[in-house]
Order: sequence, then C-alpha cells, then structure tokens
Amino acid sequence: MVLRRAAITSIGRFLPEKVLSNQDLETMVDTSDEWIFNRTGIRERRIVEKGTGTSELAAAAAQEALDRRGIGADDIDLIIVGTVTPDMMFPSTACLVQDTLGCSRVWGFDLSAACCGFVYSLSVGAQFIASGAHDRVLVIGADVMSSIVDYRDRATCVIFGDGAGAVLLEPAEGDEGLIGYRHKIEGHGGRYLYMPGGGSQHPPSESTVAENLHCVHQDGRQVFKYAVRKTFETTTSLLREHGFTPDDVSLLIAHQANVRILDATADRLGLPEEKIVKNIHRLGNTTAGTIPLALYDAVEDGRLDRGDLILFSSVGAGFTAGASLFRWGGLRTSAS
Ligand SMILES: CC(C)(COP(=O)(O)OP(=O)(O)OC[C@H]1O[C@@H](n2cnc3c(N)ncnc32)[C@H](O)[C@@H]1OP(=O)(O)O)[C@@H](O)C(=O)NCCC(=O)NCCS
Repeated sequence: MVLRRAAITSIGRFLPEKVLSNQDLETMVDTSDEWIFNRTGIRERRIVEKGTGTSELAAAAAQEALDRRGIGADDIDLIIVGTVTPDMMFPSTACLVQDTLGCSRVWGFDLSAACCGFVYSLSVGAQFIASGAHDRVLVIGADVMSSIVDYRDRATCVIFGDGAGAVLLEPAEGDEGLIGYRHKIEGHGGRYLYMPGGGSQHPPSESTVAENLHCVHQDGRQVFKYAVRKTFETTTSLLREHGFTPDDVSLLIAHQANVRILDATADRLGLPEEKIVKNIHRLGNTTAGTIPLALYDAVEDGRLDRGDLILFSSVGAGFTAGASLFRWGGLRTSAS
C-alpha cells in the first residue's frame, strides 16, 4: 500500500454576476442593512439567474483550476462535488460536471454534508491520493442556495448566496499537503437546519409545496451556538493531535456563516485578525462553496507562503463538523 500526502496544486472559482444587496432585501422582507450587517457581517451576496444549475457553477470553477494548472479534462481521475443543491436528485452533479468538462476517463460522485461538503470532500479525495489509487482529483464545493431559500423568510434569506470553488489534489512534494483531519457528525442537529421536502419521506406534492417544505428551515440560535462550540472543539483537538498550537497556524480558513461565529472562533483560539480569512461581507454563506472561495481569495491576495500551516474548519446542517490541516506548498503551473 502506497501512502502519500495530497497537496492542493490548483484552484478555481465561479461567482454569478448578479449581486443581491442588503438594500435589495430591504424591499423584499422586513429587514434593514444595519440589522443584517450587525448580526451577520454580510453586505451583499451573489445570486444566479433562476434556472441555473449548480453543475454550471461547479464546472466553471473546475475549468479554471484545470486552466491554471495547464492540464486537460482527460488528466483527471476523480471528481467529488460537495453540494446540497444538486441540479436534480440524479444523475449526480459530478456526472454533469464530467460531461461539461469532457473528461474521458474519470469517475465521481456527490458528497452531501451541507456546509462541511467541501472539507469532507477534501479529506475523501486525499485518501485516493494517499492510497496511490489516483494522481489527480478535482474537489469542488458548489451550491445554489437561492434555489432552496424562501425569500419571504427574513431569518434565512439574508444569510445565503450562490457560488462555487474547486481545487485540484495531487501527490505532495516534500512536507506540503494534508497533515490530518477531524470530522464528526451529530444527527440530533438535524432538527435545527434542514430541508424536509422532495426526498423519500416527503416526496413532492401539492401539500409539500403549500407547506413550504422545499426550503431551508433553520433555528438560527441553535446553529449559532453549536457552530461556535464545535469549531473550537474540532480545531483545537486537531491541532493538539498533530503537536501544534494555534500560534503555529498561519491562516484560518473557516466556513463563512456569520462573522460573529468567525470572530468568536478567532477569539477562543487567540488568533489575530490578520490570520482569519473573511469574505462573508461580499459573498454571504455559499454553503459548500465558502471554504474554496475563501482559499481563492487568500491566494489572490498573496496571503499564503510556501510552508504556511492552513487550518480549514466548518460546521453545517446534520450537524456536520470538520477541520483539516494543510501545509501549503504553492500552486503548480504547467511548468512546475
Ligand atoms: C440567523 C441569525 C443571523 C439570527 O441572528 P440572531 O442574533 O440569532 O437573531 P434571533 O434569531 O435571535 O432573532 C432576533 C430577532 O431578530 C429578528 N430577525 C431575524 N431575522 C431578521 C432580519 N433579517 N431582519 C430583522 N430582524 C430579524 C427575529 O425575528 C427576532 O425578533 P424578536 O426578538 O422580535 O423575536 C443567527 O442566529 C445565525 O447566524 N445563526 C447561524 C446560522 C447559520 O450559520 N446557518 C448556516 C449553517 S452553517
């Protein structure tokens, strides 16, 4: 058995052009820019044109990752898409992405873990690199939350946005790559954040539509409390397991659900502002998209140097919780 670390060697993203600002939301529900910004840190989010499938965003993000790396669709072995807003129940978003990209020898699947969709997909993809089974794995986090948000429910519609990010995993060189992960699911949390309609328990019917079961239902306070506690627990136990302290972390790239959750986490870990990536004010919560989109910003803003220790962390519906530690080795281009 071959055991190799997986490194992130390329990245791409896709953001819809249409901006939904807090001012726009003021005309739709009883809310204010001040309330939204003070309670969540969000000023605006991106929204697709109605009828745009998640696979479209996912494929565009993946294509950028391939282009930056200077490789083609046929060089990919596996596609994993973290999403809770697939284009349809089946085929999987991964199949639709394969078809759009034109990958000829790939397999793949979707991974459902809500806001942990990308972090879990990253760990799963890394196992295929570690085992020696594959050399190039596309890991995508993509969601079109606007397709399942009720724009009459002010407590949820202000939070979410649409977007996708993709990374390429390849065998690591030197000490770069995935060091470890710590993931946990706790199903009791299912009652606090869920979309009950459209599955086998409540197949689509006139009554599921009338009862609004095809939208996100959330007890925000419960989710908030769990997110603050669990993010601290998973990140500290992961750091400890690998002999690190928060001081060793170069950058925390955490799920962008609420700026107050990010600030509380930074505070508890004792991390200064410059070690936290925040783009929630521009993009809101894009569910599986937030972490690769935040990583993309960190790369573009020149906030990562070779050898830096990145701490990824997320909490989401399920409940799902996850964290992973990566040693950054830099992106690779066709020449590298
Ligand atoms: C949703 C969230 C922003 C709400 O903020 P909060 O401070 O917990 O607010 P509460 O739910 O306690 O509501 C406080 C009041 O604001 C009101 N309110 C809710 N949304 C509002 C809005 N958009 N505009 C104005 N008022 C609003 C509530 O009706 C409530 O009014 P009341 O006191 O008269 O009943 C916050 O709980 C949160 O971010 N939770 C985590 C959600 C999350 O991360 N979800 C994604 C999964 S990772």
